[in-house]
Amino acid sequence: MPISPRLKEIFQNAKSVCVLTGAGISAESGVPTFRGGGNAAVWKGMPFDQISSARMVRENLNEVWEWFDYRRGVLKDCEPNPAHFALAEWQNRFADFTLVTQNVDGLHHRAGSREVLELHGNINRSSCTNCEKRFQMNAEDVPHKPEVCDRCEARVRPDVVLFGEMLPMDAFLKAEQKSRECDLFFVVGTSALVYPAAGLAEIAKFSGARLVEINPEETPMTGFCDEVLRGKAGEVLPLF
Ligand code: OAD
Repeated sequence: MPISPRLKEIFQNAKSVCVLTGAGISAESGVPTFRGGGNAAVWKGMPFDQISSARMVRENLNEVWEWFDYRRGVLKDCEPNPAHFALAEWQNRFADFTLVTQNVDGLHHRAGSREVLELHGNINRSSCTNCEKRFQMNAEDVPHKPEVCDRCEARVRPDVVLFGEMLPMDAFLKAEQKSRECDLFFVVGTSALVYPAAGLAEIAKFSGARLVEINPEETPMTGFCDEVLRGKAGEVLPLF
């Protein structure tokens, strides 16, 4: 998958670059995606968007924890891949660089990215269902701990944005502003189905940025993109 000389030139001359990543960027690290290849993740017979929902936190927090503890267990053995490392290097290449992720796996940080706008939270954090105090967990904390908040004794939950919940406003507003201001926007490894995150690519495009998709599969964003690089993130990103 060679990068065209024209895209290379645009990349080299870009002043402000924004990248939106999704589960596909961590696929080569061994983190399962939610969608792709015609399949959607299922946990104990339940579609992942049912278990990862605000309603499930209210009705069956134990099940939610089981699913997230399982995913944290998988992550324990995963390392950042060349795609994460390439983006960590991009932060030093541009006057203005913004990395926005829908991923909760923390692999961008582990690869050396200093500032990451995490739109969907982080799987290694929990928060109190009552007072919203946050707790950091280690990869070894499987099953999670603590169970209850040390301030108010209410139960804690994964500090992850679930279906039916709002995104962290400060991270989203910054991502939106950077999407509007950038001249080059990359959409990497996302099915581009979940809003408002996917809408950032549209904001960038409508604001005049050049839009580049990196994904082995077609997505609803494909037709909207100026350049489509059909390949794996870990193989394509290091080519820039
Ligand atoms: P999805 O699982 O929906 O999509 C993964 C995308 O990655 C698909 O388009 C694949 O084709 C692509 N892909 C697979 N392997 C790849 C590779 N090696 N390189 C590049 N791309 C690859 O993941 P997201 O779009 O991130 O929300 O899903 C969005 C949100 O839906 C997630 O953040 C999650 C989920 O519900 C929360 O957890 C709140």
